[in-house]
Amino acid sequence: MKIAIINGPNLNLLGKRETAIYGNTSFDDYLKELAAKFPAHELEYFQSNVEGELINAIQEKGFVCDGIVLNPAGYTHTSVAIGDAIAAIKAPVVEVHISNVHAREEFRKLSHVSGKAAGSIFGLGLKGYELAIEWLLSKQ
Ligand code: DQA
Repeated sequence: MKIAIINGPNLNLLGKRETAIYGNTSFDDYLKELAAKFPAHELEYFQSNVEGELINAIQEKGFVCDGIVLNPAGYTHTSVAIGDAIAAIKAPVVEVHISNVHAREEFRKLSHVSGKAAGSIFGLGLKGYELAIEWLLSKQ
């Protein structure tokens, strides 16, 4: 199976950014672990700090991949357009948040993505990406 992992703004700084919340591991390092866990599957990775680029990636991957693992980061709480992109594509999307967005500031409780996603995982750290992939694989 071909699965796209799409990360939104500031997730390029994982490992350096607010480490008490997001941990010390960079996504590049974690991606190597993920690739080793799912050797029989193709994992594609895309990260952008730009909303329109994320929408382009969702549209593109949404018709060629079997599933998308999406962490829209801060855009989760603001982007109607990312929610619309998820609704527009064929591939199922699993929303992942590293932190427990419901245990943080009030504004993080609103997601424009959850209602369009197949499901959501939050608060389980980077492990959430692995669990999302496992679920997508179990669907086939
Ligand atoms: C995040 C949670 C968001 O509220 C925040 O803006 C992020 C990361 C997470 O993975 O926990 O940048 O999506």
